[in-house]
Order: sequence, then structure tokens, then C-alpha cells
Amino acid sequence: MDVAIRLTVNGKAVEASVDPRTLLVQFIRETLQLTGTHVGCDTAQCGACTVHLNGRAVKACSILAAQAQGGEVTTIEGLAKDGELHPMQAAFRECHGLQCGFCTPGMVMAAVQILKDEPQASEAHIREGLEGNICRCTGYQNIVKAIQFCQSGKQATAA
Ligand code: FES
Ligand code: FES
Repeated sequence: MDVAIRLTVNGKAVEASVDPRTLLVQFIRETLQLTGTHVGCDTAQCGACTVHLNGRAVKACSILAAQAQGGEVTTIEGLAKDGELHPMQAAFRECHGLQCGFCTPGMVMAAVQILKDEPQASEAHIREGLEGNICRCTGYQNIVKAIQFCQSGKQATAA
């Protein structure tokens, strides 16, 4: 039997009836059609599905939509404001922090969390913070540079 869920996604109230087995990532992609959140594995390892739930980065493939009941979800689509990229998105663009872009939404969401937790994070801590996110293209170097660029305030500060 379906369960009713109500949550806020990118600032908008959302109500739906879902199979209790529905993963949060499925709900985001298939029900809400917010396909910026990707699925790159089935083992909760790659981080492509990272979103923020109640202000914390989570892997949306490892929790049920019903577990987000009443919560606030931000996906990559919710980061840009008034047509302006979020400073972290702008920094990824500036520093060529992406190639194919498949990992990028999850990387950006994780990166925002890293600087929120530790605005002055060292390179080592930035790398540690990215351990749950896999990139198959960039070698991580430019991703780390992008986060440092955002951190340096050249692109305002991360929200
Ligand atoms: S799809 Fe969630 S960690 Fe890979
Ligand atoms: S840019 Fe291709 S997987 Fe990271």
C-alpha cells in the first residue's frame, strides 16, 4: 500500500503517494523529474545521488523517500538563485572541475557541505570530504581546486 509523503523540495511543498520501497533518489528523479541528481552505482558508493536533506548532504540512494517525510530537500536544481549559479557551481565552471559532468551534481552538493562544515578546510580535509564521491574523469585535481577557489572567496562564499 502506498504511503503519503509531504516534504519541501527546493523551497516548494511537495505531496505524493509513493510505494514505501521508493528510494529518495527515485522519487526525486522519477516523480519530480529533477534529473540533475544522478545514479551511478547500486551500492551507495559513488555519491552521484548526493542531495541535502535538512541541511546535511546525504546519498539519496541510501534512504527511502518516506524517511524524508516532513523534511527539506535541496537538489542541484535548487542551488542557483535568481538565475545566478551558486558560487560553488561557478567555481567548478571556472576551474574546469568537470569533464563528462556525471559526478558533478553530487560533487557540488558534497563540496557545499564541506565548506559549510569547515569554511577553512585544508586541502587534505577537502579530499577527505570527497571520499564518498567518485569521479571517473577528472583525477579530482580540478575539483579540489574549484572548492579552494570558492573557499578563497573569489566566488563569494558558499551558502
Ligand atoms: S547512486 Fe547513490 S551513491 Fe551511487
Ligand atoms: S566529470 Fe565525469 S565522472 Fe566526474
